Amino acid sequence: MPGLVVLGAQWGDEGKGRIVDLLAADAQVVARYQGGHNAGHTVVVAGQTLKLHQIPAGITRAGVLCVIGNGAVVEPLSLVAEMDEVARLGFDLGQLRISRAAHLILPYHQALDQAQELSRGAAAIGTTGRGIGPAYADKAAREGLRAEELVHFDSFAAHFRQAAAAKNEMLVRLYGQPALDVEAMLEQLRPVAARLAPHIADTSLLVHQALRKGQRVLFEGAQGTLLDIDHGTYPFVTSSNPVAGGACVGVGVGPSEITRVLGVVKAYTTRVGGGPFPCELSDEVGEHLVRMGAEFGTTTGRRRRCGWLDTVVVRYAARLSGFTGLAVTKLDVLSGLPRLRICTAYRCGGVVTEDWPPVGHSLADCEPIYEELPGWSESLGAVRRWDDLPPTAQRYVGRIEALVGIPVDLVSVGPEREQLIVRRDAWT
Ligand code: GDP
Ligand code: IMO
Ligand code: MG
Repeated sequence: MPGLVVLGAQWGDEGKGRIVDLLAADAQVVARYQGGHNAGHTVVVAGQTLKLHQIPAGITRAGVLCVIGNGAVVEPLSLVAEMDEVARLGFDLGQLRISRAAHLILPYHQALDQAQELSRGAAAIGTTGRGIGPAYADKAAREGLRAEELVHFDSFAAHFRQAAAAKNEMLVRLYGQPALDVEAMLEQLRPVAARLAPHIADTSLLVHQALRKGQRVLFEGAQGTLLDIDHGTYPFVTSSNPVAGGACVGVGVGPSEITRVLGVVKAYTTRVGGGPFPCELSDEVGEHLVRMGAEFGTTTGRRRRCGWLDTVVVRYAARLSGFTGLAVTKLDVLSGLPRLRICTAYRCGGVVTEDWPPVGHSLADCEPIYEELPGWSESLGAVRRWDDLPPTAQRYVGRIEALVGIPVDLVSVGPEREQLIVRRDAWT
């Protein structure tokens, strides 16, 4: 009955989608536990690129039950568009299930997110503008609409009209934005509700039944630890809990069901949107990472901010989620850099810390302390065995292991499914 959580150890876009795609080969269930269509998870299979936002990356594996858990927020219109795209690429959606208790992102959430960002001016968070924050805010305020309401469209419509009228008040009076056309939104949602209704289920029960049968369940995280609403770089965070604890709440299982926790670590660091980023580079190395790593957002197309690997961040993530293993991704992107740096500690004011900055300091006040390592010039895309990596690349990965104190189970060397080195089974 193994339950494996796969989550991001940095600021998102670590390559979670490709790792889930790999590990789903040995799973019977893949369950997404938080986030919405702010996520963009890229999977490349046989030269075909799949960009997933709400559908778990296990959809690439026939027969795997794919669950969108109660902790996720579901945007019905874009979910149906994503389902169409996934079906067009030849994948089967018969096993897709949406938690009855998942909250819906509705068009007014998106309008509010964008209006709020505008009103923040220079202090904007740099959200994806997808309505994530306002949808989770409604959930916490007990004003949200949940997926199961889509099953009875007439009562859904009544609830929607009431909620949308209140949001229109906010849009117009508070933010000076135009009111949304409530009936036009409902007409858009009607066919979509009918499409989604057969997929809506008591997914906590389904996952429980799978675990009792001894099946393997993979809990798929979105975003990353530093975007966690409790533990991340607040307020420059998302509105859910990507940390492993979020998997229990967001799927409806007890902590004793989680047996392994895999932290996905990009071999360097990226971040999209605003907020502190001690290791950020604005020099030619930063350019190299953007160019060689194709660091443009899967969801918004924004250029990602890039910098050296920060092991203070990864150690912090390991502590918060209890990692049992790491997957290091995009090692190939570092090829051609003669000297590499890894941040091992921060200097905050007069204090040196290997841990999260102490109370009274924030990440924004921290200067990275680096150690330098030799790089390699060989391209790694064709490497499949640890022993075939250049010794300097082995040493780089070895330093990550030593500095974080967690074994590296997987190393990826390219976006294709096969471009991977397996050192240890992440499931056991
Ligand atoms: P996620 O949100 O964590 O699933 O990550 P994204 O899909 O947003 O971003 C990761 C990007 O890097 C995608 O475009 C992947 O196809 C790509 N990628 C994943 N692993 C590797 C790798 O090992 N090497 C290279 N060069 N690209 C990779
Ligand atoms: P995946 O799952 C990277 C960032 C946004 C913004 C902040 C808040 O692909 O790793 P939100 O729209 O969630 O309210 O935005 O979080 N963000 C991500 N950054 N990868 C993601 O997802 C992200 N989802 C949200 O850029 O800074
Ligand atoms: Mg992404």
